[in-house]
Amino acid sequence: MFEQDLVRFGVSIGKNLLDEFDTLIERKGYTNRSEAIRDLIRDRLTDVEIQNRTDAHRAVGTITIVYDHHTREISDRLTDIAHDHHELILSSMHAHLTHESCLEVIIVRGCGKELRTLADRIISIKGVLHGRLVLAGFVEDAGEIVVQKDSTHP
Ligand code: NI
Repeated sequence: MFEQDLVRFGVSIGKNLLDEFDTLIERKGYTNRSEAIRDLIRDRLTDVEIQNRTDAHRAVGTITIVYDHHTREISDRLTDIAHDHHELILSSMHAHLTHESCLEVIIVRGCGKELRTLADRIISIKGVLHGRLVLAGFVEDAGEIVVQKDSTHP
């Protein structure tokens, strides 16, 4: 898309956070903050757009969680939710990270909005320490996979 008129705006940010951000974007090869911030905003807007889509396009992605398996009944709750939404879940993989922690990657396919709701339900379970939904793109009716431009390896 043709770049529109540029607008400059000021942002207040803690020094430590900015230092971390600068380190991150340097590692990723950015030469200035503006481009990095523009990319972040575009990524976020694309994510939200996919997650809000309820049309026939079928989104594909993963829900990744780290959880403490000692939390009471957490495994049963995860299994119950997975069975409630079996039509959205293609597969999952489990790794026992430490004595307490488990990592689970759940592969999902469905309308973006439903996947967001499912991810929120899973991530909000007591004992889930970290969780993230990553939508990689859409599977079109013809079987073609349309992947987001930014989902390639960095
Ligand atoms: Ni485990």
